[in-house]
Amino acid sequence: MHEKVTIEPFRIKVVEQIYLASEEERFAFLKKAHYNPFLLKSGQVIIDLLTDSGTAAMSSEQWAGIMRGDESYAGAVSWDRMEAVIHDLTGYPYIMPTHQGRAAEHLLYSRLGGPGKVFISNTHFDTTRANIEYSGAKAIDCPTEVGLHPNEYHPFKGNMDLVKMEAAIQQYGAQNIGAVILTVTNNSGGGQPVSMANARAVGELCRKYGLRYILDCCRIAENAYFIREREEGYGEKTYKEIAQEMFSLAEGCIMSAKKDAIVNMGGFLALKDEELAVQCRTVLIITEGFATYGGLSGRDMEAIAIGLQEVFDPHYLEYRIKSTTYLGDKIFELGVPMIRPVGGHAVYLDAKTFYPHIPPEQFPGQAMVCELYKIAGIRCCEIGSVMFGKYDENGEFVPAKMELVRLAIPRRVYTQSHMDYVIEAFGELLENREKVRGYRITREPAFLRHFTAHFEPLQP
Ligand code: F0G
Repeated sequence: MHEKVTIEPFRIKVVEQIYLASEEERFAFLKKAHYNPFLLKSGQVIIDLLTDSGTAAMSSEQWAGIMRGDESYAGAVSWDRMEAVIHDLTGYPYIMPTHQGRAAEHLLYSRLGGPGKVFISNTHFDTTRANIEYSGAKAIDCPTEVGLHPNEYHPFKGNMDLVKMEAAIQQYGAQNIGAVILTVTNNSGGGQPVSMANARAVGELCRKYGLRYILDCCRIAENAYFIREREEGYGEKTYKEIAQEMFSLAEGCIMSAKKDAIVNMGGFLALKDEELAVQCRTVLIITEGFATYGGLSGRDMEAIAIGLQEVFDPHYLEYRIKSTTYLGDKIFELGVPMIRPVGGHAVYLDAKTFYPHIPPEQFPGQAMVCELYKIAGIRCCEIGSVMFGKYDENGEFVPAKMELVRLAIPRRVYTQSHMDYVIEAFGELLENREKVRGYRITREPAFLRHFTAHFEPLQP
């Protein structure tokens, strides 16, 4: 039978001009940004794959909702709508709106964290880790072994390693575990999905040791797509039912609505535990805003309520995952090493293998990110030793487990020809790979250094 092209399941109503700066300009812009793409201006970029967070195009329904936004300080109708949609999806009774995911993390982990506490996750996202460490607690990642090998196929490479998880509980003592956090999909681990079986097994271990189980669920719809496709017994369920089942396994969730709620700003914390919710709500009111708006305007809450329903549309999810796979597969066919299979929201390239002559302490991922900008005005993000590298007590450099570069795809923003342009740029990247050199950091802050660090290219 004729295999149909997966088309964008929408037509375009508003357009935004993009422009490719000349090569000379791009070199100058990058130098001025201290070779850190986070410091580039968006107008200097033609295709922006820095993040899928808050970069989505909203639907006409969401824009219509924006007009309905109720901006009342207390008891806004828009909050009722947002709360009802989240309640229906998660089943959790206590819901708190926040301006984005990390604000929800702050509410929860400042309560559950503190010195002596330990958190366990399949992989903590960087703001999650930073919130935990900032409270004085420790964050331990327990990804599965296969998840650390870019080339090895596994349908659920985002899973938690249950043996490592149990060993960590025994090592630190159940009474010291602040929470177990399952990140779906596993962003820092390659946008890879977590199976329902794994989510259930994590829940069983949590119950065995009396631990609190939290989902970091910002890409749970994308995760549900993979479960339906790849996990036995889910082929007949709807994506929403799959997500609901996963929520039912945990006792709370944190969501950055900037991902799978397809909005530009927003987040929430939802909990089963009333006492904990009361404590978090106090912090919410002190740091974010009153309980019925958090850090959000009424119109944001409307857009979230609508986006959280649209995201489970099978046409949307199929297009979403297939278009990410299209980009990844084409780049892979050119011979660029990457995490296989391709994840949900992004393609993760293996810069360590791509540039074998650049050691981790010279940041091969940063080199790739800078080359892509120089070649084609494309912006993307390093997820390697710039983001996760450390120095030990003796000041020795400790590299990250992998040196990755992430091409994150904004939702409903770019068309297939934009992606073809990105694929072409990789052809050129391959031609020049031996000539590329690494970078050194010239300035760095104590936390989340990738956002603001300055770099300098190393000379050949
Ligand atoms: N958890 C995960 C898994 C995330 O990917 C993010 C954000 C957050 C929490 C924090 O949410 O940005 O709304 O405060 N990830 C973005 C990214 C920034 O580019 O992957 P936030």
